[in-house]
Amino acid sequence: MESESKKCKEESQPLKAVPDNQEPHKPDCVASRWIFAVLGCVGFMIVYGLKVNLSVAIIAMVNHTAVLSANEESGDHHAVVATNDSENACGVEEHEENLDDGPFAWDENVQGVVLASYFYGYILTQVGGGWVAENMSAKHVFGGGALLNILGALLTPVAAKGSYIVVIALRILMGIGGGVTLPAMHVLIAKWAPPSERSKIASTVYAGMTLGTLVTMPFSGLLAATINWESIFYVQGALSILWYVLWLFFVYDSPSQHPRISRSERQMIESSIGGGSPDAPKMKIPWKSVWTSMPVFAIIVAHTCSNWGWYMLLVKLPTYMRYILKFDIKSNAGLSAVPFLCMWVFTMLFASLLDFLLSKNIITTTVARKLATSVASVPPAICLVLVTYVGCNTELAVVLLTLGTMFIGGMYSGFLANHIDIAPPFAGTLMGISNTFATLPGIAVPSIVGAITHNNQTVEAWRLIFYITLGIFLFEFIFYVIFASGELQEWAKPKSEERNAGEHRLLEKNESNKA
Ligand SMILES: *[C@@H]1O[C@H](CO)[C@@H](O)[C@H](O)[C@H]1NC(C)=O
Repeated sequence: MESESKKCKEESQPLKAVPDNQEPHKPDCVASRWIFAVLGCVGFMIVYGLKVNLSVAIIAMVNHTAVLSANEESGDHHAVVATNDSENACGVEEHEENLDDGPFAWDENVQGVVLASYFYGYILTQVGGGWVAENMSAKHVFGGGALLNILGALLTPVAAKGSYIVVIALRILMGIGGGVTLPAMHVLIAKWAPPSERSKIASTVYAGMTLGTLVTMPFSGLLAATINWESIFYVQGALSILWYVLWLFFVYDSPSQHPRISRSERQMIESSIGGGSPDAPKMKIPWKSVWTSMPVFAIIVAHTCSNWGWYMLLVKLPTYMRYILKFDIKSNAGLSAVPFLCMWVFTMLFASLLDFLLSKNIITTTVARKLATSVASVPPAICLVLVTYVGCNTELAVVLLTLGTMFIGGMYSGFLANHIDIAPPFAGTLMGISNTFATLPGIAVPSIVGAITHNNQTVEAWRLIFYITLGIFLFEFIFYVIFASGELQEWAKPKSEERNAGEHRLLEKNESNKA
């Protein structure tokens, strides 16, 4: 923040001949790249919020009485919420939970498909979304994707009253919209974030995913408890439309396309990024080099493994807390947000620390990414396994789950910012590729957890799940630390005939700075 205000002052001295109706006289003290970062963060809050609110809403939407009696009629005597010895040991009776019934008799399988359907759409548009964002307008790709989610949320109550089939179709559409947002945002960050601020800007933007979860879970619980379940979708959808208007007005594809950016900020970004102007010829993706690049594979492996743990916490934490730790739904909604709040704070502090160490040349980009990815994999794995050994000590369990979730926040300065380091011109496509693989756990986690815990909500079942997660996290750690790189790759460098010598030199300089 200090350096921000210094820059603002510098701007008041004319750099070159500037028409006197233009800024320098009235410096634009809020840097455009930070307006972009904050609006990008809110955009992700919306996309993630509208994605996860269904997992809270569905608890209020389902007629638990009807589902339970249907289970019993079909000879399913161990109904899902049946208590067993290990649960009784904690001294809490399951039926004290008193879940209010909603209108829909969707059994666990239907609920599972409804919750998972988002991912079926999400996985389809990753690579295509990245490519379109790189070659056309990343701003409108992101905005359009978010808008599709907003409209989908607003239509969800009507769809649910029709049939769960309509909800599934709607959720697939929302997934298609959500799928383009991550690659499109990577393209924008590659154009807007100077390398020395890359961890901070990427973390600010992507922390929106955490913040969205953080805000949406208690907010949805509150809306469901005080108004009704429909209000979750109407209120959140309506608020999100305000954001879309701001996004259209304040965010542009690159500094050179921004009509109100200060001259010095534009120069600072463009010189540090090195010839990232939109007039530069588009490079063709060297597919062979991409698919034989170990740093690319390191990102794919880390992203996929980490998402396993992330979805585990995002989608399954409320279930675990409800069935094993015995929180009733209202305190559940509030308490399951606490880990995400800690994660957000940790993400921002850790990113600032890494950018500081990088700017003082204490560590290289490669070390920063590996360090961050290690922090995001090893401690969460240990916390998750420990949680199954604390028995009925719910406070300790909550502390461990909170710590585990918090450390995952390291990913935003780790592999999630890494695509831009190794290949800025293809940041969107590479993010699309790694996120396509990384979406598979999103589809697999609910089914696998469902299969293991079906009629078997026990600590032992969850221990197995968390041990699998431990193995996956450790694999991520080892693979990434061995193979990842923070350096611009040969195949991502502009060929000399494609650019003039000046731009090329800038890029080389930029690279040696990082080394
Ligand atoms: C839930 O289902 C039960 C049994 O089928 C029914 O009696 C009850 O009215 C339903 N509740 C709601 C809110 O629809």
